[in-house]
Amino acid sequence: MKKILLIGSGAREHAIAEAVKRSVLVCFGNSRNPGITALTAAYATGDLGDLSALRDFASANRPDFAIIGPENPIALGAADMLQALGIPTVAPLRAAAQLESSKSFSRELLEKHGIAGNPRFRVFTETDGIREYLEELGDEFVIKADGLRGGKGVKVSGDHLADIAEGVQYAEECLSVDGKVVIEEKLIGHEFSLMSFSDGRTIVDMPAVQDHKRAYDGDLGPNTGGMGSYSCPNHLLPFLREEDVQKAHEINAAVAEAVLKETGVPFRGILYGGFMATRSGIRLIEYNVRFGDPESMNVLPILKTDFVAVCEAILSGTLADLRVEFEAKATVCKYVVPEGYPDHPLRDEKIEIADVPKGVRVFYASVNERDGALFLAGSRAVAFTGIADTLSEAEKLAEAGARSVRGRVFHRSDIGTK
Ligand code: AMP
Ligand code: GLY
Repeated sequence: MKKILLIGSGAREHAIAEAVKRSVLVCFGNSRNPGITALTAAYATGDLGDLSALRDFASANRPDFAIIGPENPIALGAADMLQALGIPTVAPLRAAAQLESSKSFSRELLEKHGIAGNPRFRVFTETDGIREYLEELGDEFVIKADGLRGGKGVKVSGDHLADIAEGVQYAEECLSVDGKVVIEEKLIGHEFSLMSFSDGRTIVDMPAVQDHKRAYDGDLGPNTGGMGSYSCPNHLLPFLREEDVQKAHEINAAVAEAVLKETGVPFRGILYGGFMATRSGIRLIEYNVRFGDPESMNVLPILKTDFVAVCEAILSGTLADLRVEFEAKATVCKYVVPEGYPDHPLRDEKIEIADVPKGVRVFYASVNERDGALFLAGSRAVAFTGIADTLSEAEKLAEAGARSVRGRVFHRSDIGTK
């Protein structure tokens, strides 16, 4: 039996824990997830922004390998630290993780290696020329903080930024934090995620998924970490053709190759391309270097191949020899979140989960368990994944799951519907 260290404690990590079979699982997270607790032999909590407690836990438990869920420890070099302890990790080393931790790194990598998919962009290291570039883009611009901001570093004109003056102001704010800011053309179209398992040389795609980031029905309201997501039985999406996904695949494959050339380290882990299907083709929005949250809860429950075998192939560079298959099922994942989320979420309110329909998968996120009861901890609380032959059946299951939560919460009832 393998011993596996799981790092992270959200619903994404709960989905990873459920996917790990016939192994001993130990977990290090920043909170105690009731779902993961039930699946682990050892569980410690600590600050994921400080690798020393994680190092102590890993040294004491001596796992065969590790899997990292969230981006922050990856960007800080958790995989490098574990490698130094002799623990291989399903997550890239820090150098390769720049794909997510630096927006300018990704844009410049694509440009340098002649990979299709970039919008028009420029990286600024000083304020000179910013206003002129925004004028050149003609009110259709996006300003991106270079470093990690927990999903809050990107501001889009007409949405978060009313005019060029606000754009200049935000760009200057970014410059003062990172010394760099990325400004790019605003892409118009449908967003989707294509996550690929990567061993550094071979990439194998998961089904395409669409995430819904806005808090309220109809894609209205503030941006969130993601309120829910869906995937289709043919592993495409209603607005994507086979050749669109093939294009996204080619970009992911070329990027994995470019990362190796550029940094000298193979990208071992999950390569998550965020794409926009535009009228002029598939364009890259950004890269993440980990499973998406909620997207992991769509794809992992329908992975037919043993997930541990996939991880081992990633680590040994043998993905080309493994047949990786997903069920031809639709999936819909819905998050239940506290009233007031994301700006002023209720906390410490009790919730109850009653009568979840059979077959609906439940993944715990930001909830605390006390004396057998569940309490909201302030962020996305519990996710429900429905899996069925059609999207509408999967949606009904996820909706019934979300409605089974009693308490001061809400969810989006439109995700996965027409
Ligand atoms: P984040 O995941 O926080 O980096 O935010 C990225 C979000 O900003 C994406 O999900 C898009 O909705 C939006 N975005 C980023 N880049 C662009 C772009 N060039 N054009 C249009 N929207 C973008
Ligand atoms: N679902 C978006 C993300 O994981 O970043």
